[in-house]
Amino acid sequence: MAVEIQSPWRIGPVEIPTRLVLAPMAGVSVQAFRRQGRRFGAGLVCSEMVSCAGLQHGNERTLGYLRIGRDETPLAVQIFGSEPGVMADAARMVEDAGADIVDINFGCPVRKVTKTGAGATLLEDPDRACRIVGAVVGAVAVPVTVKMRRGLADGSRDALEVGPRLVEAGAAALTLHPRSAKQMYTGTADHSLTAELVERVDVPVIASGDVTSRARAQELLDDTGCAAVMVGRAAQGNPWAVGQIAGRANGEPGREEVVAELVLFMRATVAELGEQRATGFLKKFYGWYLGRGRFPKPFKQELVQLATLAEVEERLFSAAPGATDVLARLEGELPGEDDVLLDLPISVYGGG
Ligand SMILES: Cc1cc2nc3c(=O)[nH]c(=O)nc-3n(C[C@H](O)[C@H](O)[C@H](O)COP(=O)(O)O)c2cc1C
Repeated sequence: MAVEIQSPWRIGPVEIPTRLVLAPMAGVSVQAFRRQGRRFGAGLVCSEMVSCAGLQHGNERTLGYLRIGRDETPLAVQIFGSEPGVMADAARMVEDAGADIVDINFGCPVRKVTKTGAGATLLEDPDRACRIVGAVVGAVAVPVTVKMRRGLADGSRDALEVGPRLVEAGAAALTLHPRSAKQMYTGTADHSLTAELVERVDVPVIASGDVTSRARAQELLDDTGCAAVMVGRAAQGNPWAVGQIAGRANGEPGREEVVAELVLFMRATVAELGEQRATGFLKKFYGWYLGRGRFPKPFKQELVQLATLAEVEERLFSAAPGATDVLARLEGELPGEDDVLLDLPISVYGGG
């Protein structure tokens, strides 16, 4: 039976309103990005991966990743590490911060992470991977999920062997990005493995990799039996793609709308990270928002060179004057700042 992308589903007791999950992306999945994705139709959103060692040491920036709004539900916070006990402690902090789901990263291919025995390397150490999942499941009351690659080497099928064992250890759902760690982001995601994994486990499987259109999303739901699709790169600077895949919106946005969403995102990011960090963080987003034929190429170069965000806003509004009205409407629809922060120690809010 065909699964509708707009239909609800569950991970354990957590109800998720649509079959579109916004991917965890380091350096991207800030609160502003997650809130925007949800507005456009993502049913579940995820934090970027958070270092359990950073949480253990009370690192200020790492704690900042636990900034969660009252409106941010359902939300998964992803942790990475290689020591079961430290991961369990990190999971407790994540649960206390208000996450609905703790997700464990067994997929990161980046050397800085894999050389510590964390991320995708755990697919080659299934016993340790299971001990980590078991320890985290034992530490928290919320569901624990795992996100993984297909394996380390090209052609690896390790995820198909490890996946069922992780479910036995207590994982309530699995996300598969069926590329090898070696592939990084080259080639294509081989979702025939997603279909095989679905056959082998009795928990929801989320398909991640190369979901860029409504048609592809529906094809994966139909052909693999996955419970949901995850959208990553297609959503960068492009909430309209999320809307289209979720079946809510159609067509390309006008320039006014693009500028209004970008400025809204900039302001939310400043509130979250502070002006100084936000200024650098936002630079990659200009190209993502203004590319795709929406604005001429040199415009992005111009913005990147401006010293302050106030100047960037001014330049954006001069390129699309009608955007101020669109922005006022969008801002009017958002919840007030007082409504949105959970009651946590002030230090977790990092830059403001
Ligand atoms: C910039 C970037 C950062 C990422 N960071 C994470 C991360 O922190 N945790 C994770 O599990 N996956 C991470 N991923 C992988 C994505 O979640 C996703 O599985 C992958 O990009 C494939 O999906 P896509 O084709 O829709 O982008 C990242 C991907 C990108 C492009």
